Amino acid sequence: MDEKAAVLGGGSLGLLLAGKLRAAGRDCVVWTRTREQADKLNEEDLLLTEAEGAPERRSTVSAVAWDEAPPFSGIVLLTVKQTALEERFLRRLAELVPPGGTVVPFQNGIGHVEALREALPGRDVVVALTTEGALRTGMNRVRHTGRGDIRLGDDGLARPERLEAVERMLKQAGFSVFLSKMLDNDMKRKLLINAVINPITAILRIPNGAILESPERLALAESLFRETYGVLAAYGLEGEAELWDAIARVCEATAGNRSSMLQDIDAGRTTEIDSINGMIARMAAAKNLDAPWNRMATALVKALH
Ligand code: PAF
Repeated sequence: MDEKAAVLGGGSLGLLLAGKLRAAGRDCVVWTRTREQADKLNEEDLLLTEAEGAPERRSTVSAVAWDEAPPFSGIVLLTVKQTALEERFLRRLAELVPPGGTVVPFQNGIGHVEALREALPGRDVVVALTTEGALRTGMNRVRHTGRGDIRLGDDGLARPERLEAVERMLKQAGFSVFLSKMLDNDMKRKLLINAVINPITAILRIPNGAILESPERLALAESLFRETYGVLAAYGLEGEAELWDAIARVCEATAGNRSSMLQDIDAGRTTEIDSINGMIARMAAAKNLDAPWNRMATALVKALH
């Protein structure tokens, strides 16, 4: 019998994971922020489409408000925003997931893994970095708008069998999963990708692929890229040319996708800008570097909040 999964967060990525896990026959519960959200998810089937125009796949997911859920000892996929991971949240998570449990954070940005490890001693923390694109097109409807991949890593702190269990589960659900041997580097790489794609798509209100469509947008992306790479290089990131190519590849693979930051702006939610470009600006300041593009991106996106 497969181990149970719980997805904490009923946003687009959470529903994509839950929908694909359920379609692969995995027992999976969705923990939502409020009881009202859980009731709505329980009212109807979850409809998942792999691409625009493709047939909808129907699955039932059970949802429960996360402060009403009983303690759970399976695999917990955390898809709430990095900004949600504050003290009260971490205390509640520690009640929900007793020692021995496995927590898989999917957040953008960096800094959250340390906070989770500190708040959850005795649990295995398997970090997930994803470039999958998902868009929620209705309360119970989600579309897989860009096939990316999921990199899993743990810095040697999680038990290898728990890392394997998460890898197996996500592969079974049809995701491309890779094990990262250089988690720290991969987190910085993902931070760089998000620091370029997310604010530009949110400010200009364009899908990811549209960044590549005009020389002006490309020049904007390149300036933000150069500055951000410069800051992260001061923290050990390497491979400037490969990373610029990686950004173009993500834009192509997720061309029709509205980035998570644009989706937040569209829905009137606070974005993760402070954990992405705000974080880069703080990292720059700590090394006496200037990061005007990142400061400006942060200010502009905050002005849209
Ligand atoms: O935040 C996002 O939307 C995603 O991380 C990415 C890779 C930019 C694709 O949309």
